[in-house]
Amino acid sequence: MNIAIDGPAGAGKSTIAKLCAKKMGLVYVDTGAMYRAVALYVLESGTDINDREAVADCCKGASVDIKYEDGVQNVYLNGSNVTGRLREEAVGNTASVTSAVPEVRAQIFSLQRGLAERGGVIMDGRDIGTVVMPDADVKIFLTASSEVRAKRRVLELEAKGEHPVFEEIKKDIEERDHRDMTRKISPLKQADDAILVDTSDMTIDEVVDKICSLCE
Ligand code: DC
Repeated sequence: MNIAIDGPAGAGKSTIAKLCAKKMGLVYVDTGAMYRAVALYVLESGTDINDREAVADCCKGASVDIKYEDGVQNVYLNGSNVTGRLREEAVGNTASVTSAVPEVRAQIFSLQRGLAERGGVIMDGRDIGTVVMPDADVKIFLTASSEVRAKRRVLELEAKGEHPVFEEIKKDIEERDHRDMTRKISPLKQADDAILVDTSDMTIDEVVDKICSLCE
């Protein structure tokens, strides 16, 4: 059984997918982390992220690999475990820009397909139900209002001791939605056969129960 979960930034995809994976005995595959690893490489190389040709050229030097250690996905960039560095705001926002470059997507696509072909995965991202696993057994489009998503992100950053400004976080989220939904290649969109789950007024447990029951 393969499950695809797509949706915009901050909809709770990774939290929900991790819990569902545990309940259903599936492997959780976080595809955003793969794009974030390439973004980290591009950022550290000093490449102008808005220069698509330069990004396409630069990403050739980024070898991304995934390993499952104690049931947790670790992301390796050119042999180093970079998992702990991928969640920063700058890396996520850069990934939204660099992931629109076809050469970046081609590189990550084969890694994702390899994992999908092994089966038994719950994979989250933007184009999983539409492009990466069009044959998934269950497809979920997980969303929430940008207001709610920004509030959740602010709480998450505050818990890490940071002092985020709500309006700035909301603006970043809306810009990221726009970029992810309007890019030419593999834009974020609900697959025709995906089930829409709006988590704005739902608890984490309610969402997990709903998805698990949809998979029965
Ligand atoms: O899910 P995330 O926030 O970790 O993703 C970071 C960025 O990576 C997102 O803004 C767009 C890109 N991405 C993508 O284009 N396709 C995916 N399947 C997953 C992420």
